Amino acid sequence: MERARRLRLIVWTSLVLLTTVIIGVTIAAGPPAWLSGDQWRLDIEQALNAVGVVPGMVVGEAGAGDGYFTLPLARRVGPRGAVVANDISRRALASLETRARDEGLNNVQTVAGDVDDPRFPRRDLEVVVVVHAFHDFDKPVEWLVNLKKYLRPGARVAIIDRDPARGAESHFWPRDRIRGYAKDAGYDLVTSADADTDHLIMVFTPRSA
Ligand SMILES: C[S@@+](CC[C@H](N)C(=O)[O-])C[C@H]1O[C@@H](n2cnc3c(N)ncnc32)[C@H](O)[C@@H]1O
Repeated sequence: MERARRLRLIVWTSLVLLTTVIIGVTIAAGPPAWLSGDQWRLDIEQALNAVGVVPGMVVGEAGAGDGYFTLPLARRVGPRGAVVANDISRRALASLETRARDEGLNNVQTVAGDVDDPRFPRRDLEVVVVVHAFHDFDKPVEWLVNLKKYLRPGARVAIIDRDPARGAESHFWPRDRIRGYAKDAGYDLVTSADADTDHLIMVFTPRSA
């Protein structure tokens, strides 16, 4: 009897200790991605710096979804700048509009695009970003060709995505594949960098004739 009670005490003490250690480690490491709502864990400010987004710029975003990258982008370009956010999903764009309104961001305009043409409403975009989305595009080469008519001369197009060479699932596209589509569409690579532990940033510009 006495032995059984001692055993129960040891088990309970071990459980309490184990739980304390797990909670301590979790707090030290920060909240898990599923709890913080950021399943991508992209360092957005670092990515914006790497692409060279500054206040006052006119920037397009394609595959913007419900605004994961769009809202920080709109804050970065500020009231003198503008963001045109494209997606093929009207549902996603409606959600993005609500989020932008709730945050008081008046510099975001949304546009529904086609799978092969972003249909941006302006032709003076200085930078276009595609975040966590290019690997979902069904017609990447046609889309990039059609994108050119919305760009100001010297504009840059940044593909930011998870890197399968550094742990991302295999449905994400490797650098060579992205570079190949861009080359076929008539773009040159300007820079290729790592955003953080598992994101790539590839910046292109239309090849001059
Ligand atoms: C995985 S979500 C990423 C959304 C957001 N950029 C983010 O980082 O959370 C990919 C988005 O790309 C959009 N998409 C897929 N093909 C597209 C295309 N050809 N043109 C524009 N958007 C597209 C989808 O509707 C979806 O909203």
